[in-house]
Amino acid sequence: MWLRNPRFQRWIGGGVLERTSIGLVAQLELLGLGGHKDSHVVRLIRRVRRERRWLVTANEAYLVHTLARAQGNRDGQMAEVGTYQGGTAKMICEAKGDTPLHLFDTFEGLPAAAAQDGRVHRANQYACSLESVQKYLSGYPNVSFYKGRFPESSGPVEHLRFSFAHFDVDLYESTLGCLEFFYPRMIPGGIMLSHDYSILSGVRTAFEEFLRDKPEGLIELPTTQCMLVKL
Ligand SMILES: C[S@@+](CC[C@H](N)C(=O)[O-])C[C@H]1O[C@@H](n2cnc3c(N)ncnc32)[C@H](O)[C@@H]1O
Repeated sequence: MWLRNPRFQRWIGGGVLERTSIGLVAQLELLGLGGHKDSHVVRLIRRVRRERRWLVTANEAYLVHTLARAQGNRDGQMAEVGTYQGGTAKMICEAKGDTPLHLFDTFEGLPAAAAQDGRVHRANQYACSLESVQKYLSGYPNVSFYKGRFPESSGPVEHLRFSFAHFDVDLYESTLGCLEFFYPRMIPGGIMLSHDYSILSGVRTAFEEFLRDKPEGLIELPTTQCMLVKL
């Protein structure tokens, strides 16, 4: 449970220490994945780790890819909120085929935190320019970018239905905003995947509150992620 400690998270968060520790975990996980998973996907994860600053472990990246691939044949589009430098978005791009993908970020870093977040993050942490991410993902078809705070930036997609939505927004209000927007727009069997559920109190609280009156059960994964399958 030490990984959940806000003082530890503040100390390690956002800088060299965070990247080094995630990098070490990722290297170990890549050794494991390399022993039994599709070598194309393992090589892809290694490549993205070299190309971008990345805040997910190798197993987490693998899950983003495999869920996007599984949902690629369904009716419905895909979305990610919390794109940063485009690492997890690239995993989705590699898996989605021609399915449209909608990417949302302030591209100015995190909005202000709420009391539920436990003072782990700083406002504007994880800023990255929209142009840099557009360039990084320019080789993939049907990818759209929306700069601004979500859900205020969601207007252009409010009429759509989604088969896969990935949330990596770190904060209580942002996670709740994602759940409130996407839940009614997911197709039956649509998957919502979130990073950081088991380690960030704001993310966990948002899911717990949101699910109080919903029939779906939360699926907690062995990584920091959780997922919901829309009934
Ligand atoms: C941890 S980073 C995402 C990491 C990314 N998925 C990757 O592959 O490295 C969190 C991102 O969430 C974005 N974010 C958080 N809340 C947001 C909101 N309400 N609207 C738009 N972007 C938000 C921040 O700007 C930041 O880029």
